[in-house]
Amino acid sequence: MRILVTGAAGFIGSNLVKALQNRYPEAEIVAVDDFSSASFENLLDFKGELVTGDVSDRRFWEYLADLYEFDAVFHQAAITDTTVTDQRRMTEVNTLAFKYLLEVAVKRWGAKVIYASSAAVYGNCPAPMREDGCLKPENVYGFSKLMMDRTAEVYLRRFPRAQIVGLRYFNVYGPGEAHKGRFASMVYQLAVKMARGERPRLFKWGEQRRDFVYVKDVVKANLLAFEREVRGIFNVGFGKGRSFNELVEILNRVLGTDFEPEYIDNPYPFYQNYTEADLTRSKTLLGYEPEWPLERGVEEYVKLLREEGKI
Ligand SMILES: NC(=O)c1ccc[n+]([C@@H]2O[C@H](COP(=O)([O-])OP(=O)(O)OC[C@H]3O[C@@H](n4cnc5c(N)ncnc54)[C@H](O)[C@@H]3O)[C@@H](O)[C@H]2O)c1
Repeated sequence: MRILVTGAAGFIGSNLVKALQNRYPEAEIVAVDDFSSASFENLLDFKGELVTGDVSDRRFWEYLADLYEFDAVFHQAAITDTTVTDQRRMTEVNTLAFKYLLEVAVKRWGAKVIYASSAAVYGNCPAPMREDGCLKPENVYGFSKLMMDRTAEVYLRRFPRAQIVGLRYFNVYGPGEAHKGRFASMVYQLAVKMARGERPRLFKWGEQRRDFVYVKDVVKANLLAFEREVRGIFNVGFGKGRSFNELVEILNRVLGTDFEPEYIDNPYPFYQNYTEADLTRSKTLLGYEPEWPLERGVEEYVKLLREEGKI
């Protein structure tokens, strides 16, 4: 079995590469990344081949197509800085690159394609969010992901045997995200701050809700998408929106601290107030059952951060 993982040195990509390596020890895994938002440390245990390159460069796909033939492509590479406002760059790196990928993966390799979409496609649509419900991204990042989904749907119609699965990740947290800095999860950012003895800062009044999902559940969803006979778009969250105030309470308990949040004005005009995945479709068709409620995920994550000396 030959597997390509793009964005492999990033947060989710590196967790996925390790899981694939464990699950399919005989597989040939090729990791692709341009290291624009990655950490080489994430791939220290990776035993396959690394190909550095830019997925938004069409010639890069020709190069890959000349050298390899893959059975599966897991596509995680993207601009993940959600505050980038350059619409051309965002749509080239996220949306156009995906079309280049589909052209090669579907037409040349006949590979199964599993790609990262995002809950950003829902913006402030009412929660719980359904795959076939309201879609209204609030920024160009969310728009670029929505256009990936639309591209996937076009290819699914055009090639009835194509196996393409889009996974709309909600708010992912877990090991391997430190390089993302202020775009790392709130779980990571608050854990680091509180472990340093600083008061957590939340946008007023901390009651905004997020569907926090541990990276292990996200990896599991990717493996299910690969192993099951499915196609189309699926939500990947825990299935419950939790408030930032609740997150601080959980962190206080796990870290053994007793901080009151400091509330500050929210500078972002576009901000998701409440995200929660409707998991009906994912549970029914993908067989996805999340295993990591926030309490359990935070506990393991803090333990790992401590072991690595990160907090
Ligand atoms: N982390 C989340 O909460 C979350 C939520 C929804 C969707 N997603 C999606 O999941 C995927 C992985 O995100 P992540 O959180 O691991 O972020 P990340 O920034 O750690 O990973 C993205 C990876 O893609 C690489 N990359 C960026 N542009 C590239 C290019 N042009 N060519 C090759 N490689 C490139 C980066 O170097 C990085 O390694 C992304 O598609 C992201 O949009 C993440």
